[in-house]
Amino acid sequence: MLRNDQLEAWDRENFFHPSTHLAQFARGELPQRVVTGGSGVFIEDREGNRLLDAFAGLYCVNVGYGRTEISEAIAAQARELAYYHSYVGHGTEASITLAKMILDRAPANMSKVYFGLGGSDANETNVKLVWYYNNILGRPEKKKIISRWRGYHGSGLMTGSLTGLAGFQKKFDLPLDRVVHTEAPYYYRRPNDAMTEAEFTAYCAAELEKLIEAEGPDTIAAFIGEPVLGTGGIVPPPAGYWEAIQKVLKKHDILLIADEVVTGFGRLGSMFGSDHYGLEADVITIAKGLTSAYAPLSGSIVSDKVWKVLEQGTDENGPIGHGWTYSAHPIGAAAGVANLDLIDKLGLVENAGTVGTYLRKGMTDALGSHANVGEIRGEGMLCAVELVADRDSRTFFEADKKVGPQVVAAMLKRGVISRAMPEGDILGFAPPLCLTEAEADRVVAATAEAVKEVLG
Ligand SMILES: Cc1ncc(COP(=O)(O)O)c(C=O)c1O
Repeated sequence: MLRNDQLEAWDRENFFHPSTHLAQFARGELPQRVVTGGSGVFIEDREGNRLLDAFAGLYCVNVGYGRTEISEAIAAQARELAYYHSYVGHGTEASITLAKMILDRAPANMSKVYFGLGGSDANETNVKLVWYYNNILGRPEKKKIISRWRGYHGSGLMTGSLTGLAGFQKKFDLPLDRVVHTEAPYYYRRPNDAMTEAEFTAYCAAELEKLIEAEGPDTIAAFIGEPVLGTGGIVPPPAGYWEAIQKVLKKHDILLIADEVVTGFGRLGSMFGSDHYGLEADVITIAKGLTSAYAPLSGSIVSDKVWKVLEQGTDENGPIGHGWTYSAHPIGAAAGVANLDLIDKLGLVENAGTVGTYLRKGMTDALGSHANVGEIRGEGMLCAVELVADRDSRTFFEADKKVGPQVVAAMLKRGVISRAMPEGDILGFAPPLCLTEAEADRVVAATAEAVKEVLG
């Protein structure tokens, strides 16, 4: 293949990379990587490195790289019809089929799918739908959305406000009003050591109720949460959490938005996190695993309860004033159909459960007694290793030591990609759902060696 020797220079001169230290990158102080190919759980770069991607891109390439079933479906769709819009009742075979396939897999109370492009815009849609819903029901004051500290829901204006991570808000004038945050369901970082898990769950529910009372229940429209906290640290909820939270929400007539951008389509070893944890959501956000990122596509799955009100709203006000040019883009939809078929054919939901459990066990055997490993946790094909300065006193490292990023860099030298989660020294793992036990062994070995190199 022709090699463009200027590519690296063009990259530094022209390309505004997301979530990047812009000045350091422009000055050449941050490494760059030009990715050229991928197959299974591996990616390749221009320098000839082959790396095991234990984060599946951004926890999205769930079926793994290089699946010709999906790339051929995309090519066939592009040849037949690359684009038509979906406004005023238009659709394509791919978009209509995909909506049906999603609802066949979704919790029983779901009714319709609206398609967007990414997780952020899908959550923007969901907030608009919730506001519309309460206006149609004659409750114009009931508009605030409760999110959780450490939640991640995107980086748009509203979704960046819902996100409870300071790095996504600082200097952007976020959060906007109408968004309030409550306790993160993060037992390892509980406010006092003596709390049992059950007490912590009760504490989270009590904090939520306190916030609702303080703001006024008539001002709160919805609660948004990821079934398993993702970017905030890969943290499964404490036992009984969703049951306790839903009780409070029901009491105050507050809708539940389940953000399943990471957990949807198999990552937890179940098709949806909502089924996994018994969430009765009113709206579900999907993206990432919907197409395994072979093409951009997201969705808002709307429940019967919300849908009825949306219909009523259009009877009263005319067509819903919401839509993007690329909603239900045929190429994304074709990728989604092929992807969901492939997940079934390869049994990837089940594999996520079994190999994910194997990966966590391997990690625990290798690192569970290390003096700087505070907790190893996860669910399905999600795993996190939380590093601490002192495990007995639960003392965290100072952020500027960058212990997490150092370990991730040491893993990279060993050919394995993991992610230093943005708050805390947390190594994140979310491999493609097709990971094998032998590949999981490689991830564990690289992690154990890297932790030893950095922390002894
Ligand atoms: C739970 C969750 N919601 C929403 C988003 C935003 O999705 P996107 O980056 O596609 O806009 C993400 C992205 O990581 C996510 O993890």
